[in-house]
This record gives sequence, C-alpha cells and structure tokens, in this order.
Amino acid sequence: MTVWTPTDDGFADLTSHDTFTAGPPFATFARLRKDDPMHWTDYPAGQGFWSVTRHADILALNGQPDLLSSARGIRIEDQSYEEYLARRTFQETDSPEHMMTRVKVARAFSKPVIAGFEQSIRELCADILDQALERGNFDATREIARQLPMRMLGRIVGLPDEDLPWLVEKGDALIANTDPDFTTHVLDKMTTDEFRMMPFNSPAGAELYVYAKDLMARKAAAGDTSGVLHLILQPGSDGSVMPDHEFRNFFCLLVAAGNDTTRYSIAAGLHALTVQPGLLEQIQSGAVDDTMADEIIRWATPAIYFRRTASRDFDMHGKTVKAGDKVVYWFASGNRDDEAFDRPMQVDLARTPNRHLSFGQGGPHVCLGMWLARLEVRVLFQELARRIRSIEADGEPRFLRSNFVGGIKSLPVRVTLQ
Ligand code: HEM
Repeated sequence: MTVWTPTDDGFADLTSHDTFTAGPPFATFARLRKDDPMHWTDYPAGQGFWSVTRHADILALNGQPDLLSSARGIRIEDQSYEEYLARRTFQETDSPEHMMTRVKVARAFSKPVIAGFEQSIRELCADILDQALERGNFDATREIARQLPMRMLGRIVGLPDEDLPWLVEKGDALIANTDPDFTTHVLDKMTTDEFRMMPFNSPAGAELYVYAKDLMARKAAAGDTSGVLHLILQPGSDGSVMPDHEFRNFFCLLVAAGNDTTRYSIAAGLHALTVQPGLLEQIQSGAVDDTMADEIIRWATPAIYFRRTASRDFDMHGKTVKAGDKVVYWFASGNRDDEAFDRPMQVDLARTPNRHLSFGQGGPHVCLGMWLARLEVRVLFQELARRIRSIEADGEPRFLRSNFVGGIKSLPVRVTLQ
C-alpha cells in the first residue's frame, strides 16, 4: 500500500518552489538517483549547483566537512560575503568555530535532558488534542501540528506564553519565506534588498532581532540566568563571546528550526494515518512506541535539502566538482532511496533499523533538536491514538511553496472519538 504517488514527470525543476506545491518531485529524484547521481543544475537566479540524491552519497559527503563546507551558505540562493557575515549562525560555520558554539548548548538538547520534558509534552498534547478533536472536522496542521512545537520551545528557551502566537507567526514568515500564505515578502519575488542583512532575508528577521534584544534585557533585569539563551552567551573555550548580531541570529534559528520542522513531521504523520490503513491500530497497540517517530520523520523529511560548498576539486560519478561549487544534499531523495530502505514509498512504523537522513545524520551539524522532535512526535501520536477511533481526509492537503521546507500546510480531516 502506497500513501504517496508522485505526480511529477521525472524532469521537475528543482530550483522552482512551485514544483513542490504538489509535494516533493519523487519521480525526478528517482531518475537522478538512477541515471545521474551527481547532477548539475543551472540556476537562473545565480550560480548553478550539484545535486546529490543517493542515500549513501549524502551520508559519505556529509561526513567530510573539510571537503564540503557549511561556511559559505546552506541554502541554494547565493549570498554576498557581507550578507553571509550578517546573517550567519553557527549552522553556517565549520569547526573549530562550529564546535565551540555547539558544545555550549548541546547538553540542554541532549537525550537525557529532553527526556525530562516528557510529562510536560504529554500535558501540552492533551490540551491541544482535547480542544481540536471535539470539533470533529478541522484543519489538522493548524489545530494540532502547529500548536505543539512552539509551546514546547517556549518552555525550553524560557519564552513568555503570551508571546508564543506572535513567535509562531514570525517563525513561519522566516522559514516559509517563499510561500505567500506565510509572508508578504516572498523571497524569489522580492523587489527590495532592504532585508538582505537580516536572517532569512526577511522582515520577520528584523522584528525577531528587536524581540530577542528586549527579551534578554528583561531577563537580565529580573536576574534570570536560566535557559538555552543564557548558555549560548557564555564565553567559549577561547574566551570569546558571541557577538550581538550572531546571538540574535541564533534566536531566529531556534524560532525557525524549532517551529516548522516538527510541525510538518506531525502533519505528514497525520496525513499518513488518513491514507494508509492500519497505522492507527498499530500505534494503539503500543508495539511501535520506540520506532514510529523516526519513521514519521523519515516520511516527512521537513528539511528537503541542505547545501554545502566544495573546498577543493573532487571527482564523483564521473563528474568533477570544482572548489567553490555549491553541492546540495537532497535529504528528501535519500529518504526514498530503495538501496537504503525496503519499500521506501510506504510508511512502516516498525521500521528498524531506520537510517533516515531527516536530521542531517552523518555530519557535524546533525540536528540539535532531534531528541526533542522525536519525543514530541511520539507523545503526540500516542495521545492522539488514545483519543480517536478513526481519522480520515476531509479535503485535499495543500503543500508549502518551498523547495527547502517540505510540509503540508493545510490538512482537512474528520475524526471520530473513542
Ligand atoms: C523533525 C524536526 C526537525 C528536523 C527534520 C530538523 C532538521 C535539521 C537538519 C537536517 C539539520 C542539519 C542541517 C545541516 O546539515 O546543515 C538541523 C540542524 C539544526 N536543528 Fe533541527 N530539525 C528538527 C527539529 C529541530 C528542533 C525542534 C530544534 C530546536 C529546538 C532544532 C534546531 C536545530 C539547530 C540549532 C541546528 C543546527 C545545528 C548545527 O549546526 O550544529 N531542530 N535540523
């Protein structure tokens, strides 16, 4: 049983955000994996790029940060050096700089620390589900998936509850900056360069800049030194302190990364329940508690790609990648590679092992929030399964307009309660 049949003709334009409004072009990815695994694409808006589409190749290259650097940008769009410096976070650096920052906050996101939030997540899920499910039919992305991640992040980072809806809105505008439903400044249609020094080239980045500064001032006045934001401001092993603008970029990264990716994993999982029979019963049985979150996150692949830049020439699959060339790891393709997954176009909640790439596994930038995301997804689906007898589609899902963030932005469903 397949829950997704790609509709692209195998030759989709990967540079076009519009391509992805029908879901990822999996037929194109399958053709590239088979026929042209190191594929060159001309990019009308700038320098062309190489596409890496096979699971094994993504894993191998991501493990060589000295060859493929994050420090020249991680999106397909080109940036000037000046823009890069103004907008970068530690995600756009290489070690040793990258590691020095990452270790400051790694513990706060580690598996044992995050495990301590399980009860808190369960309570939030109960609250969200009880409100949503009693409606009977509703948009599941909006009423369920969108609610949990920011409320949880708020608790970890120490954000006031009353600010969370505003932060969700800004997080959406940042990361979904190519979808007119989420921003008035659509990245590939923008006629101004006013925001080019702001995170995600977005006016929301400018507003979050101001918010982060005020928040830290309020925390300092109250003598509040708890939370991840305080940790990141501590001096590194060489005594250096993160500059002001980089701190605010980090804040934007958290708001963006902690918000949409988990939401779209939940949305993809809910969608799967509506189209692949038997999944709900499997969750209800308790037999897939340890494996389902990873499979839902593989299935979703909310970070469709990340980009690197070659530091020196190298050859692969008969092609020569030159120093300075952009190289794109298409995680969405790697996660559907039948060389790595048995029946990749099916959701198998018991899949073990599950070597998906959704978190950028194998590389030094592997997602910092992965334990949090996994826990949120598991608990949400456990709590949902306890409450409903059935869930079915009540209209067509609508996908985000983005080749970077994969997600169902609107998912009409109908549920019956237990
Ligand atoms: C299912 C949910 C999520 C997915 C699919 C996801 C995906 C990713 C991926 C693919 C990367 C690696 C990027 C690269 O290789 O350049 C990454 C990095 C990162 N993620 Fe996540 N993410 C998720 C949830 C979260 C959450 C909840 C947070 C924070 C609360 C978070 C914070 C970060 C940060 C800070 C980095 C940068 C790490 C570094 O550069 O060392 N993510 N994420």
